[in-house]
Amino acid sequence: MSTAVTKKVAIIGAGNVGSVLGYALKQKGYLLTACFARTEESRQRASEVLGCSVYSEPAEAARQAGIVFLTTPDRVIEEICNGMARRGGFRPGQVVLHTSGAHSSDILLAAREEGAKTLSFHPLQTFPGLQAGLRALPGTFFAVEGDRDAFGVAEGLVEALEGKLLAIPTEMKPLYHAAACVACNYLSTLMDVALRMYDVMGISAEQAFASLSPLIYGTLRNIGEMGPAKALTGPVARGDLPTIKAHLQSIKALAPELLALYSCLGVYTADLACRKGTLDREQAEQLKNLLGG
Ligand SMILES: NC(=O)c1ccc[n+]([C@@H]2O[C@H](COP(=O)([O-])OP(=O)(O)OC[C@H]3O[C@@H](n4cnc5c(N)ncnc54)[C@H](OP(=O)(O)O)[C@@H]3O)[C@@H](O)[C@H]2O)c1
Repeated sequence: MSTAVTKKVAIIGAGNVGSVLGYALKQKGYLLTACFARTEESRQRASEVLGCSVYSEPAEAARQAGIVFLTTPDRVIEEICNGMARRGGFRPGQVVLHTSGAHSSDILLAAREEGAKTLSFHPLQTFPGLQAGLRALPGTFFAVEGDRDAFGVAEGLVEALEGKLLAIPTEMKPLYHAAACVACNYLSTLMDVALRMYDVMGISAEQAFASLSPLIYGTLRNIGEMGPAKALTGPVARGDLPTIKAHLQSIKALAPELLALYSCLGVYTADLACRKGTLDREQAEQLKNLLGG
């Protein structure tokens, strides 16, 4: 495939991600040939932001392009891809990508059957809007899986977006996504649990977060520098059973709805402390019994 062809990009679904990728790639010399938008309003918006031809039929928007991004919501990517394939939107030589974290490139099978190479190209980043998205791009990791032949194109895109490429196994895409959800969404959950305990004490969420922030950021820095096991401190790492017993009693009395999660995380943390080497197997078992695990 010639460089000129692979530099022609179409965006199918010019929402948050589509607009950011289209805009940024255009700045870096990619030729934005067309985009697809559903409604008159979104066509107008896409035309203003991306300055390219805007189509109301996705297959037409894709036809001239060498690189086709399907940046619609996850639930409709496969359906749109199937429809585009039926209407002649794909051909050999094209690279067709979606940006979903949850799905693998397998949902682009219809494009592959038309001879296109397919990839999933997931930015591990949050894009609430155009300007914030453009600011967040440099340094963003893009998890890529799919046709190996198309990895060169993905590398070019990632370089243009000033990001970094993370290759992942296709069959493990859901596990990759689960890991990202744990690191991002469940971190929010953990923070909420801590803030609820403060709330029981009558301390506002704002004050609570302010007081916990140095601890949170310090812990994150330590995890980055030495890994989660070595960064682990606290009563579980020390095998301090009376302290854990006091936690359990207090949570049971004052915030019983948090007891199960506290105990479950404590059981996992006991194993982490064993890996760190500050807890032996026997102590870990005693702790787990106390936690009910
Ligand atoms: N936003 C993020 O932070 C983020 C981060 C990483 C990955 N992603 C992934 O990127 C993809 C796009 O997400 P997004 O946040 O950019 O979504 P979005 O802002 O909601 O944009 C989706 C686009 O798809 C169009 N669309 C919606 N439903 C459609 C349908 N039924 N048929 C055709 N087009 C339709 C929308 O058109 P209208 O404008 O007409 O509504 C819009 O242009 C998703 O796969 C998502 O998982 C998002």
